[in-house]
Amino acid sequence: MDYLPIFLSLRARPCLLVGGGGVAERKLALLRAAGARVTVVAPHVGEEIARLAARGEIELTPRAFDAEDVRGMALVIAATDQDEVNRAVAAAAEAAGVPVNVVDQPGLGNVVMPSIVDRSPVVIAIGTGGNAPVLARMLRAKLESLIPQAYGELAGLLGSLRGRVRAALPDGTARRRFWERTLEGPAAELLFAGRRDEALAAIERSLARSDAAGPNEGEVYLIGTGPGDPDLLSFRALRLMQSADVVVYDRLVGETIVDLARRDAERIYVGKAPDRHALSQDEINQLLVRLARAGKRAARLKGGDPFVFGRGGEEIETLAAAGVHFQVVPGITAALGCAAYAGIPLTHRDLAHACTFVTGHRRADGSEPDWAALARPQHTLVVYMGAAALAEICAKLQAAGVPPTLPAAIVERGTTQAQRVITATLATLTEQGKAAVVRPPALLIFGEVVRLREQLAWFEQTAPRHD
Ligand SMILES: C[S@@+](CC[C@H](N)C(=O)[O-])C[C@H]1O[C@@H](n2cnc3c(N)ncnc32)[C@H](O)[C@@H]1O
Repeated sequence: MDYLPIFLSLRARPCLLVGGGGVAERKLALLRAAGARVTVVAPHVGEEIARLAARGEIELTPRAFDAEDVRGMALVIAATDQDEVNRAVAAAAEAAGVPVNVVDQPGLGNVVMPSIVDRSPVVIAIGTGGNAPVLARMLRAKLESLIPQAYGELAGLLGSLRGRVRAALPDGTARRRFWERTLEGPAAELLFAGRRDEALAAIERSLARSDAAGPNEGEVYLIGTGPGDPDLLSFRALRLMQSADVVVYDRLVGETIVDLARRDAERIYVGKAPDRHALSQDEINQLLVRLARAGKRAARLKGGDPFVFGRGGEEIETLAAAGVHFQVVPGITAALGCAAYAGIPLTHRDLAHACTFVTGHRRADGSEPDWAALARPQHTLVVYMGAAALAEICAKLQAAGVPPTLPAAIVERGTTQAQRVITATLATLTEQGKAAVVRPPALLIFGEVVRLREQLAWFEQTAPRHD
């Protein structure tokens, strides 16, 4: 290790910043965020530094650097674009025994500034010993996406409870178990979801039980995983998948997505092929209740969005009735994903002012969508679960008055590497679909907007095919 990572308290302590340009401004913001009393030394400064000096928030010495400037400082930063000035600052600080950082010149000075993920009071510093700042920034971007903004709030909340927990659980092991359970249980997730009062109540309940070895309170995460491309998962979806003990999924969720769950999580496949339900909907609902009651955090993965033709509502109705905690994470529904990856805008100023999502799945009572109402001009119609009834749907639309020349498309396995898009007209779509031997899942799109695909297709040109 070339550098020892430490966190330095600069609150109300004097710090010197040499330089007045854009780089100096960014360092000044950091020093001020840490509560330092900053003196800037530079013959010329930018607007922001001048403004802060005019308001008395920093001290400005508008002249060239002098070695005496480092005296009594807690930290010195050289942020000029002049090599000899930076060297002089580093030499003066080192001679005076003051830690010094020279921006972008780790060979000078004895402090390197890390890339920072700031969820104060949680702060993560990433250093590469000055070797590869870009790598540090990339790592930081990854961490930024994985660590919820509310982590700071969580740390603050836990800090405020430390005294009480110490009093209630004097035994160190019991206390550690309590904190682990709190952080892994629903309290943290409730806080991340902005439900601070409920989070606090969950912690209180857990503390009241004070049996630190007792089971966690379980929770169900109903997660929309999008239409197939794992890159379309939300940060929240990924985080909850990685914290769940059990993953419950069906055929619409690809293996590449299921594989993103925690490695040691139990996986339960619940089927749901059109004619082959491994578990009935009611059995799935009951399974989720059982898992939560056993103290598990269960991620119920749904293709697309859980509330769009996904029966997600029914699953959480059962949970709500059973008093089980749950959260719903929206996903990109197939219509949005398929349209985007097929280059078919669903609305367009000149071609479509409205868009309807409808299911082509025949209901048990035989009732059907109002095809005449859906056959409007300047309107895009997206049919989910319609491939099996393609011929019937096309015939009904024509019977309802839709011109046979209306452009139409089938998007098969949209957003995945195996995506296929078949374009035709209302009159020819059935025949084209049959010839192409469409495989599920597939979505139908009817409307003038389909025409735009000719210019806007982008995905299949870049994605390798795996037919
Ligand atoms: C039971 S619905 C689930 C819809 C899902 N909840 C959503 O929001 O996308 C299943 C239907 O969604 C459509 N679908 C889902 N994923 C798809 C994909 N990757 N490509 C084409 N259609 C898809 C198909 O019409 C399929 O029959």
